[in-house]
Amino acid sequence: MFDTILFVAFPYVAVAVAVVGGLLRYFKDRFSFSSQSSEFLEKRELFWGSVPWHYGVVIILTAHLLAFLFPDAWGALVANPVRLYALEITGLALALMTIVGLVMLIVRRVQRPRINAVTTWLDWVLLVALLAQVVLGFWVALAYRWGSDWYVRTAVPWLRSLVVLQPNIQFVTALPWVVKLHMLGGFVLVALFPFTRLVHVFTVPVTYLWRPYQVVIWNRRPGPAGRRV
Ligand code: HEM
Repeated sequence: MFDTILFVAFPYVAVAVAVVGGLLRYFKDRFSFSSQSSEFLEKRELFWGSVPWHYGVVIILTAHLLAFLFPDAWGALVANPVRLYALEITGLALALMTIVGLVMLIVRRVQRPRINAVTTWLDWVLLVALLAQVVLGFWVALAYRWGSDWYVRTAVPWLRSLVVLQPNIQFVTALPWVVKLHMLGGFVLVALFPFTRLVHVFTVPVTYLWRPYQVVIWNRRPGPAGRRV
């Protein structure tokens, strides 16, 4: 019963909250779809935290997605031990990169009074949830080896069973609690999505990696002497 609540009801509720909340925010407050960048308040530390965080997390989540979408091809890829080791080592290195980057971003928000002042309680909730998720992911990868292989035999069939509305939790209920927490943590982040800065993912996210985080454009009319008023 408890497992059904966690692995059937909770994922559906999280997705429903994300879709309804996201649509409401989009139609009520479309221009709030932003990361609400603090680049203009502090730039150097932001760069050193944001770049490793974003490159790391985007690549890791792409791997999660590819294995989910193409389990057979992924299974064939990791069937070769050399490729499996290479993938796992790369995954661990990227996970470390995301953790270091995120910790730097959090420390920056704690230490810089001006950044602290523009940080809401929901920002803190999101940052803690993200940190917990990547630390748990790193823990899973380190403690339960060859996750890139067993992921396609556990998480993928469970997730696919949810997608086709025929939930089957037998693939995940016997897993260690760290793994379960990581899997459920993904859905906690899904539910948080529409209420937090995460919505900036839907604002053509990739360009964040090379363009300035924020482009400030004057839109007030010039005053009599050409000054902005
Ligand atoms: C926003 C959501 C998520 C984030 C940020 C995230 C992040 C991570 C990170 C940082 C790692 C360690 C990288 C590695 O060494 O491969 C990892 C590994 C892993 N994640 Fe996630 N994850 C998310 C969602 C999920 C979900 C929903 C599932 C399953 C349903 C999942 C299953 C796994 C597994 C099985 C591993 C171990 C892979 C390995 O050992 O190579 N993750 N995740």
